[in-house]
Amino acid sequence: MPRYPLDFTPDLRRLKAWPSMKDSLWRQPYLIELTYADNFHLVKDSIRGRNLKILEVGCGTGFMSLELARRGHDVVGIDSNQKIIRLARRTMETDPYSKTRGSLRYEVADFNKWSDIPGTYDVVLFSRVLHDLPYPKNILFRACRLLKNGGRVVCIEYAYDRTDRRSATWLYQIRRALELTGCYSSHLPENPKEGIDTIMNDALYRRREHINTFEEMKHPLEQLFVKERLSWHCYHCWDVLIDMRVPDRKREKKLASLFKRMEQLLIDSGEIQPVLFRFVGTKVPV
Ligand SMILES: C[S@@+](CC[C@H](N)C(=O)[O-])C[C@H]1O[C@@H](n2cnc3c(N)ncnc32)[C@H](O)[C@@H]1O
Repeated sequence: MPRYPLDFTPDLRRLKAWPSMKDSLWRQPYLIELTYADNFHLVKDSIRGRNLKILEVGCGTGFMSLELARRGHDVVGIDSNQKIIRLARRTMETDPYSKTRGSLRYEVADFNKWSDIPGTYDVVLFSRVLHDLPYPKNILFRACRLLKNGGRVVCIEYAYDRTDRRSATWLYQIRRALELTGCYSSHLPENPKEGIDTIMNDALYRRREHINTFEEMKHPLEQLFVKERLSWHCYHCWDVLIDMRVPDRKREKKLASLFKRMEQLLIDSGEIQPVLFRFVGTKVPV
């Protein structure tokens, strides 16, 4: 886990620069707007209804649970990392909107061992966590049991196994150009072919021992839930935004926005295969 400044507040409504957080998107508000905030828009857009009971699994710093509670929902956020939950609680406690918020509770828990009364929730949210959980079918079965009949699962997830050579080629060009101008924190081989191979290998094999593939997540999602939506979104640019180091903030902001817009354009025109998906599904009545 990165070192957080003592007063770090991961809150989409209190964005400010945290320049000491060099390896984190939270170092600049414009990077959060292009990444975490956009993912929250996907979640917001997937949830219909008022005063819902929502469970967020793997809530991390809690910024999504906090926003959902501010929209009037009653939210429980769980995460197995004690330090991150401490941070989420501290942010919740200093929330200037706390008086108009729905209820919000954070718990330190491993979702594999956590339980609540079956049929309690209207929505179970997984944001960038399902890829990491072994036996996704068991995980989704647990989520399904916690949902009311007609309740929804919302899953925002990345699947790097879908990275294709065109994406790697585009990424090489960006990263190498940034490197050559002293604006990138890591180094790729000078030879383009070797560089593209490195990016492909990193995407396909070097992330963790095993992370769930798209098919390993999609199959149980479609088995246990009636699919309402499956959409694809930008994510390759997140890695570039994390590692770029452009001293001039205005220039960095423009470049970050350009990379994201380019990725969107390449996805929309079918030139590259996107890796971030959103699945929204309804629990099949039992
Ligand atoms: C990549 S972070 C995503 C955080 C946040 N949901 C987001 O979208 O930014 C994944 C989080 O899942 C948590 N996590 C991993 N395995 C878990 C488990 N078995 N039960 C609960 N949380 C878990 C990790 O501690 C981490 O905070």
